[in-house]
Amino acid sequence: MKSRKSRKSRGSDRMDDESRLADPIVHNEDQDIEVSLRPRQLADFIGQEPLKEQLQIFIEAAQTRHEALDHVLLVGPPGLGKTTLAGIIASEMGVSIRTTSGPALERKADIAAILTNLEEGDVLFIDEIHRLGRSIEEVLYPAMEDYQLDIIIGQGPSARTIRLDVPPFTMVGATTRTGLITTPLRDRFGVTHRLDYYNGEELARIAGRSASILGVEFEEEGLREIAGRSRGTPRVCNRLLKRVRDYAQVKADGRVTAGIAGKALALFEVDSEGLDRTDREILRLIIEKFDGGPVGLSTLAVAIGEERDTIEDVYEPYLLQKGLLQRTPRGRVVTRLAREHLGAGSPSAGEQLF
Ligand SMILES: Nc1ncnc2c1ncn2[C@@H]1O[C@H](COP(=O)(O)OP(=O)(O)O)[C@@H](O)[C@H]1O
Ligand SMILES: [Mg+2]
Repeated sequence: MKSRKSRKSRGSDRMDDESRLADPIVHNEDQDIEVSLRPRQLADFIGQEPLKEQLQIFIEAAQTRHEALDHVLLVGPPGLGKTTLAGIIASEMGVSIRTTSGPALERKADIAAILTNLEEGDVLFIDEIHRLGRSIEEVLYPAMEDYQLDIIIGQGPSARTIRLDVPPFTMVGATTRTGLITTPLRDRFGVTHRLDYYNGEELARIAGRSASILGVEFEEEGLREIAGRSRGTPRVCNRLLKRVRDYAQVKADGRVTAGIAGKALALFEVDSEGLDRTDREILRLIIEKFDGGPVGLSTLAVAIGEERDTIEDVYEPYLLQKGLLQRTPRGRVVTRLAREHLGAGSPSAGEQLF
């Protein structure tokens, strides 16, 4: 939710945010549309079948017992549907959702106020839960476990602790990597699930659903072209769809065909593997400045002008999964595939597509 915080402002030699279409992080201009495209029910949520099936069972069981659903931890790179799922869990359970984020919770009083204001069964969604302060985390342990809150009143020798009841609630936490959260916190989630990148067919269905909501005319092939270049990420898929729609409207008759999508995406410098300029820059830099690697993450982050976390959470997972980059004990190494891809798919070569 507050992902922008983790991004550094860039020098003038950097591309502006507008051009970063394949960036899975949400930007202001996308927020409204993102909300309108967000599935509200489990049945509208495309892909992630094992997770959906499990949630369906847990939700039905909890409802039958008239209990709050067990706490759920969702793990995965940005844009894969964590926030969406938190909303779906609440609506399937028929309860309200209260949303906050790790960095937003600064004082114990903040979390105490939120917890005591929950209604029975409500969902408390904590985005970027790995960025919670330690003292806030400690307030959460008894709340999650026994629905109790220990509050210290007064200071010094006269201080005393009072114990408050919190209504039974469901905590849904979202994080990019499980390794980032402490073991005691992780252990208090009854359900932990990793979201995987989506395949082309799922993304094409997501694009189709979004196109219908946005009233965009399309050919299946056009959606498949967009899906194939979406970095396995629904958020990127929706963003590319919007931009291809603009292109189709201005340069053609508004219909999203394969040809139009291909031309638009080449113009926007999203290549055939869905890599954007930053992705390619990372690979190229390792090849050119570090002789293909290994290069340490911190060195790479400085050279690219991005934060370490952003590289590790946003860019790297996709490059790893595509087999373009490898993690070794001594640092990051580009693969032969990456060299081949850059040779064939660089922006200058991409122009030959026209
Ligand atoms: N499985 C899905 N089916 C349909 N749309 C999805 C799915 N997952 C994500 N989206 C779309 O992608 C966008 C980003 O999802 P979001 O839940 O905000 O991701 P995260 O919280 O993991 O960063 C949302 O607007 C939503 O419309
Ligand atoms: Mg989110």
